[in-house]
Amino acid sequence: MDNLTASSVAHPNIAFIKYWGDIDPSLHIPANGSISMNLQELYTRTQVSFDPDLEGDQFSLNGRLVEDVGLTRVSDFLEHVRQMSGIVIFAAVESYNNFPVGTGIASSASGFAALSLAASHAAGLDLDERALSRLARSGSGSACRSIPPGFVEWQAGCSDVDSYAYSIAPAGHWDIVDCIAVVSQEEKLVSSSTGHLLAGTSSLQAARVDDAPKRLMRCREAILKRDFDALAEVVELDSNLMHAIMLSSTPPLMYWEPATQAIVQAVQSWRKSGLPVCYTIDAGPNVHVICSADSSQDIADKIGLLPGVQKIYISNPGGPARLENSRFQHNSSHLKSI
Ligand code: PMV
Repeated sequence: MDNLTASSVAHPNIAFIKYWGDIDPSLHIPANGSISMNLQELYTRTQVSFDPDLEGDQFSLNGRLVEDVGLTRVSDFLEHVRQMSGIVIFAAVESYNNFPVGTGIASSASGFAALSLAASHAAGLDLDERALSRLARSGSGSACRSIPPGFVEWQAGCSDVDSYAYSIAPAGHWDIVDCIAVVSQEEKLVSSSTGHLLAGTSSLQAARVDDAPKRLMRCREAILKRDFDALAEVVELDSNLMHAIMLSSTPPLMYWEPATQAIVQAVQSWRKSGLPVCYTIDAGPNVHVICSADSSQDIADKIGLLPGVQKIYISNPGGPARLENSRFQHNSSHLKSI
């Protein structure tokens, strides 16, 4: 591969403790820290080529040329990389996802993590994990958590320099699984970027943020001790708190659909009956059902019987964002869906 081209792969992540609201929206400095798990079987694969013949940046997603806001966001990000590296030419960005975009499965996280790695490398920068995490954060906050491997904490910080993510345990530390119940593949009407701006309009946000350090500690300890019951309690609490902020913002945000609620209730009843399972929901109607690896097939079968479930993606804890040496190829055969 020539010097001005690089390819990368990054996984989305599911937040156990959520990022919702910024203290500095332009830099994505979050109101609170967060913890997540990378999702191995889901990925974005991206190739960036800086090319002196281009008259503007180009961006294609899943084989289709993107214009308008999507292109502006990528182009603003590339401008940042140009300023860091001193490169002055435009780039063509080609990205593929093996899962639906914009539905609460964190496509912007894997998207900007992959773009950070490929664009910085193609531009001749050799960034360490922390610098890459900060760069990814500037594209989409949660993308900073898709740079390091496994179970990851994003230290909120208060400036561009100290707001970045690092691994608290490798992917192989704990064999838990995310069964993602897809109830809609439509792109959401209100993006998380807009949602973050509304968080401060909820009178509940200050209480959620004040209490975040306690939830972060409970979640970190649950992961380190591999204590599923403790994880389940804090993960559901944190998800419910974020959705309470969304519902009480002005204007209110409601991402749930009837099928979302049906899955939540089913998961609660399965846990009461003794199964190691809990739910968490991002900015979309799809439900992330977290469970132990040995119960995942049983849980996936049960989810598949619930009304409105279109598809289930099953994912293990995932590795870091990484460069690829081969020329760009898309292959979605690793993804197991039911
Ligand atoms: O990084 P963003 O702007 O796509 O925000 C992510 C927001 C949530 O997915 C709802 C929570 C999180 O921490 O991932």
